[in-house]
Amino acid sequence: MARVFVTRSLPGTALDRLAAAHDIDVWPARLPPPRPDLSEGARDAEGLLSLLTDPIDAELIAACRKLRAISNYAVGVDNVDLAAATARSIPVGNTPGVLTDSTADLALALMLAVARRIVEGDAFVRAGEWVTWEPGLLLGHDLHGATVGIVGFGRIGQAVARRVDGFGCEILHTSRRSGVELGELLERSDFVTLHCPLTPETRGLIGVDALRRMKPSAYLVNTARGPIVDTGALRSGLEQGEIAGAALDVTDPEPLPADHPLLGAPNLVVIPHLGSATHATRERMADMAVDNLLAGLAGERMPYCANPEVY
Ligand code: DGY
Repeated sequence: MARVFVTRSLPGTALDRLAAAHDIDVWPARLPPPRPDLSEGARDAEGLLSLLTDPIDAELIAACRKLRAISNYAVGVDNVDLAAATARSIPVGNTPGVLTDSTADLALALMLAVARRIVEGDAFVRAGEWVTWEPGLLLGHDLHGATVGIVGFGRIGQAVARRVDGFGCEILHTSRRSGVELGELLERSDFVTLHCPLTPETRGLIGVDALRRMKPSAYLVNTARGPIVDTGALRSGLEQGEIAGAALDVTDPEPLPADHPLLGAPNLVVIPHLGSATHATRERMADMAVDNLLAGLAGERMPYCANPEVY
């Protein structure tokens, strides 16, 4: 029986399986453990089940001398210092695949929400401003027939492509095979949707220059990671009308404080990182995360490992 620190309670029954096999300590609060509590909880643990909100950095990994397996409850592992884990031969599990379709669904929802002004329309009705049907009321832009530029053509990007194909869209993407250059994608797309991981190369990818290359009638959608978009550049791009609007599931910073200047920008829809937030998907992610940790602690190969070079 190994000692395991779990940084938050998870939906479904997966943690019961973990508790049946190991001595688990689950951080009880709704908010992430502050740094001292994370360090304290993980210090003597052999297994760590972390969330994307937990910075599992080199310092923390170095301090956890007994750590043998890390399982991240996300497909993205940008919160984990993979190099530091690999240097200690610690496998890092993640949850690819199970959240692909839920995240792609949400990207479509955001495209429609911002271009068809759904959030504005809802607020308009609730404010009692709706007095009659009007030919010019809250006009937006069509998704059907539009050109959709997909930045990052992995599992989720391809799932978005299948969906917008059903809307009769022209699809551009940046994959090495049959893709276009990012600049061309930005210039031609009516919707630019981001599906790349956060890496040193993609941090700030959509900044002042990229936004200026987009059409003034185009929309930006981000369901990947907040720091791929330069928040200040996006704010001024929206204020200057350089693009028609943006819909963000992820932000930088995350969470975005209620008084953040970005929230004052026009034509912006923001939601709180809900890409994988369905009951079924979050439960399947929990199962995968637990399967990864159980395998890692048993000295077996994790079914989904972000640093397979440890094997
Ligand atoms: C992930 O898994 O990386 C998503 O951002 C959250 O589900």
